[in-house]
Amino acid sequence: MQAQDLLTALAGGQTVSGALLAERAGVTRAAIWKQVEALRARGVPVESRGTAGYCLPWPVQLLSLAELRAALSPAARQRLGELELHWEIDSTSSEIQRRLSSLPDLSVMLAETQSAGRGRRGRSWLSPPGMNIYLSCLKRFDAGFAALSGLSLAVGVIVMRALSALGINGAGLKWPNDVLSPDGKLAGILVELSGEYQGPCAAVIGIGLNVRLTPALRAQAGQPVHDLAGLAHGGAPDRNLVAAALIVALIEGLAQFEREGFSAFVEEYTGHDLLRGQTLHLQGALGELDGIGAGVDARGALLLQTAGGVRSIDSADVSVRRA
Ligand code: BTN
Repeated sequence: MQAQDLLTALAGGQTVSGALLAERAGVTRAAIWKQVEALRARGVPVESRGTAGYCLPWPVQLLSLAELRAALSPAARQRLGELELHWEIDSTSSEIQRRLSSLPDLSVMLAETQSAGRGRRGRSWLSPPGMNIYLSCLKRFDAGFAALSGLSLAVGVIVMRALSALGINGAGLKWPNDVLSPDGKLAGILVELSGEYQGPCAAVIGIGLNVRLTPALRAQAGQPVHDLAGLAHGGAPDRNLVAAALIVALIEGLAQFEREGFSAFVEEYTGHDLLRGQTLHLQGALGELDGIGAGVDARGALLLQTAGGVRSIDSADVSVRRA
C-alpha cells in the first residue's frame, strides 16, 4: 500500500479501522501505520480514533482525469494540449520545463502533491496532497518577450474569472498577481518565460490555489493565507471543478491575451485591484518609495502617485501601510 492508496481509502471522510485497511490492501497493520505517518509527513491531518481506526477531518475529492475532462467546455477540450495528472512530482512547472520542446501548446500538468513546489523569488510552495490545486500550463507565443508584458497580471485576472465561474466572491488582486482574500493569500502565480527575445517563446504558468488549508499549513506559510473553503463558508468546492474552471479560464484568457495583449485586461484588473487608493510602501532595486496606489498601466506596471508625480514601477515588493 502507498500513501496515495491510503488517502483514497480515507477520502470519504469516514473512520476506517487499521485492521480493515490492512485486510483490504493485503498488508500488515504496521504497513498501514507507516503510510499514515507518510501522509502526515506530507501535511495531511490523518486523525487516529483509537481502536475505531483512522479518518480525515473532512471528506477529500481526489483529482481524476475523467472528471476533469468531463467538466471542461467543449471548446476548451478541443484546444487543450496534453492533460496530465501526477500523484507526486517535484513541481508541475519544472515538469513542463523539462519537456518544453515536446509538449504541445496549452498542455496542462496537475499534481496531487509536489515535493519541491516553487514560489516567486526562490521561495518554496508547500503542496500537501488532496487539499489544494497545483497546476501548470504551457503557452507558446510567436511575437517575442516584448508582447508578453503584463502576462502575469493577466493570469491573475484569469484566476479571478475562474473563481467567479465557481460562484466564489470576496477575493482581489495585489500587484503584480497575488490573489488575496481579506484573510490572506488564496493563490500564487509563477510565470516563467523562455525562448527568443524577438521570436518564438514559451510561458510556463504555474498556479497554486488553496482549496482547503490545515492549521499546520497556515502556521508554516510564513504569511496570512486563506482558502476557498473559508470563502465558501465551510463547504470546499469540488477540486475537479476548481481545476476545470482554471483550465477553461486559462485557455480562453490566454487566447485573448495573445490577440489583444494586457490592455484588454486593464479594466478588469482595475475592478479587482486591492492596492488602488491605498497608502503603499515599495522596496526594490529603486530603493524605498511611498505613495498612493493609482492602478496599473497597459504594460502591467504599477502606478504610484508620489509627491513628485505618478511613477510607473515594473518590479518591487509592495506593502500596504495601515493608517
Ligand atoms: C507565489 O510564490 O506566489 C507563486 C506560487 C506558485 C505555485 C505553483 S503550484 C503549481 C506550480 N508548480 C510550482 O512549483 N509552482 C507553481
